[in-house]
Amino acid sequence: MTSETLTLSRASAIHQLQSHFEKHKWSLRELFATDTQRAENFSLEAAGIYLDYSKNHLRQDTLQLLLGYAEDQGLSEQISALLSGANVNNTEHRPALHTALRFQGKPQTDHEHAVADCRTQIKRFAETIHNQSWLGFSNKPIRHIVNIGIGGSDLGPRMVVETLSPWHKKGVRVHFVANIDGADLNDTLKNLDPEETLFIIASKSFSTLETRENALSARRWMLAAGCNEKQLAQHFVAVSSNIVATQDFGIAPENIFPMWDWVGGRYSLWSAIGLPIVLACGYDVYEQLLQGAHSMDQHFANAPLQKNLPVIMALIQFWYRQCWNTGSQVVLPYAQRLAKFPAWLQQLDMESLGKSVDKDGQALGYPSGSVIWGTEGTNGQHSFHQLLHQGTDLIPADFIAVKEPTSELHEQHRWLLACCISQSQALLRGKSLHEARQELEKAGYTHREAHTLAPHKVVPGNRPSNTLILGKLDPHHLGALLALYEHKVYAGGCLLGINPFDQWGVELGKQLSSKIYQAADGEVPNDWDSSTRALMKKLL
Ligand code: F6P
Repeated sequence: MTSETLTLSRASAIHQLQSHFEKHKWSLRELFATDTQRAENFSLEAAGIYLDYSKNHLRQDTLQLLLGYAEDQGLSEQISALLSGANVNNTEHRPALHTALRFQGKPQTDHEHAVADCRTQIKRFAETIHNQSWLGFSNKPIRHIVNIGIGGSDLGPRMVVETLSPWHKKGVRVHFVANIDGADLNDTLKNLDPEETLFIIASKSFSTLETRENALSARRWMLAAGCNEKQLAQHFVAVSSNIVATQDFGIAPENIFPMWDWVGGRYSLWSAIGLPIVLACGYDVYEQLLQGAHSMDQHFANAPLQKNLPVIMALIQFWYRQCWNTGSQVVLPYAQRLAKFPAWLQQLDMESLGKSVDKDGQALGYPSGSVIWGTEGTNGQHSFHQLLHQGTDLIPADFIAVKEPTSELHEQHRWLLACCISQSQALLRGKSLHEARQELEKAGYTHREAHTLAPHKVVPGNRPSNTLILGKLDPHHLGALLALYEHKVYAGGCLLGINPFDQWGVELGKQLSSKIYQAADGEVPNDWDSSTRALMKKLL
């Protein structure tokens, strides 16, 4: 098949799914009424994570159609291709081997040998910080670590460090700086003592504007505090695949942790980019995180498609996007410590699936990635859940709940879980006009008042959600959860026929920002639009 016919055949298969949707309109309430075993029939468990996907507009025949589509796209082969190190990132001619970063047992491949060496380097370095044998320029031990990085070099480690706060070691605190806005760095450094501070410059490319500028400012801050050029080696380490640029910055070769082109930025927290995790929580915790992710990798590799948790979740998202015209997907972790999870997922999903052409460069005749957003429950209930319940858009939700309490306030944990379950129940059931009227009359409203007010109280319901349950919010379960979403996104990319591992769209903004920065001091090209020119005049 030519690439053009492939794209067309994918579009026509999607069209068939759409007709299934047109033909069968059912309500979620009906689906539950006609199948008392629905929760059992539409749930899965793997790597310590339980998925209830019964509150979705799916019947067995829908699922079969979706699975048939996945098979036609060669999803099983594409999963094997990813895991065996084939060049799945076809535009950059590379494999995407983040799964090799969490291998267990003895290293077998070259990649695994490189990873094993890197793990040893991380472990040894972390020991010197924790046992206070690594000293700053005035011979004080290091108490503050500042990770300077952005995107994948920030979001993953930041989220994991925050989630695993009960595992934080005493004596060392980890901070994160990402934004080019100097306030980010300034506000972080203002309470820190340079003599006790170590910076990790985390940048796969070592050419990212934000990281470069923050790193240079951090360097100046150290020098202003009395550290000399030579002593900078005691305060700066780097994680990068660009050894030359890293050394040019002045990082001692022994303080450079490797990154490889076969690891994508948004999949990199399992590499030395996860160094802040090790420094905050200790090497054992990092190992447990890797083990959790590895157990999900094993499941993804071996489970048949219909029992494969990431695949089922990808199919559900695909189904709504293609056939229900959904533009966004909300993720609602009912765990305070997972507050940064939606931001991490946003990069993972939107940078991967936000594409307009397929792997062969043919324009997609169907929508690709959707907007991913969300916040920690229950805070979202008091801000945007109103729109989820009564707005005009259908927004599928992923609820994430943790069974074991994450604090000593067990009664509050019970409430938290009750809130989580009630939200998905409310989305499913809604409240009919009849129920709203009855409720008002019962509350003492006259028949006429109840009639007028009831339409405002109607909640359409019939709105879908998944609920994921983690036994515990510990490193192992967290690793499995993150790997689950990574694989879901990959499977989603395969269903769409796109390359989920490049991100060329980000480049244009980068190119233009340096042109604008430079032009602000000189000639502004005449052919630039008047808005850009006016904004430059006002701001720069
Ligand atoms: O924003 C694009 C991007 O390349 C991300 O994919 C990446 O995670 C981030 O920039 C940071 O890149 P680097 O680690 O090379 O500084």
